[in-house]
Amino acid sequence: MRAIVNVTPDWGIGAKNRLLVAVPSDLKRFRELTVGKTVILGRKTLETFPGKRPLKNRRNLILSRDPGFSAENAEVFSSIQALLKAVKVLPPENVFVIGGESVYRALLPHCDRVLLTRTWFDGKADRFFPDLDELPQWRQVCASEPMEENGITFQYVDYVNQNVAALESCTEEKRQPGE
Ligand SMILES: NC(=O)c1ccc[n+]([C@@H]2O[C@H](COP(=O)([O-])OP(=O)(O)OC[C@H]3O[C@@H](n4cnc5c(N)ncnc54)[C@H](OP(=O)(O)O)[C@@H]3O)[C@@H](O)[C@H]2O)c1
Repeated sequence: MRAIVNVTPDWGIGAKNRLLVAVPSDLKRFRELTVGKTVILGRKTLETFPGKRPLKNRRNLILSRDPGFSAENAEVFSSIQALLKAVKVLPPENVFVIGGESVYRALLPHCDRVLLTRTWFDGKADRFFPDLDELPQWRQVCASEPMEENGITFQYVDYVNQNVAALESCTEEKRQPGE
């Protein structure tokens, strides 16, 4: 699976349960890359979407520990373990982890690639993506030229994971006997 994220230079991704910054070209790219695919997100990120509704034209897998939580046109998973079981039958390139911080952190070891947009914007974040330059298994493989839109400079950068954790191995929870 892959993660797709927009980070500021200090790896900030959000504040007060909102995005820090939105660049129209980047949102368009996000849509083009994820339409028709499976997206994985946390319950709090769902709340940031218009109408708090899942993304259209994508299979939405939402993580929540609240047994009473449900969302129309989405599947809810109460653990990383249950989620990984569902996604391991899918082609990895068709599954995108789309946030937020807690979900990125939990699933990053299982991602083979991060499609990152670096945006030069000072937004005083309270949510962060792990600093991939500090993690030895992650290597930057390509970067676009910096671009500018609405006065904001951004670039697309790909990182690859040289030591992907198998989907069977859970980073967070122990497997139950018999599973
Ligand atoms: N820049 C970007 O590209 C980007 C992308 C996405 C989001 N964001 C930002 O990220 C921020 C939200 O991140 P966040 O970390 O606060 O929230 P989050 O990861 O979106 O959602 C957290 C919620 O997900 C559920 N959850 C997380 N781990 C779970 C697990 N192991 N098992 C079951 N449920 C689990 C829990 O829901 P319950 O509380 O219901 O149990 C938890 O409260 C927002 O500011 C958003 O705008 C930025």
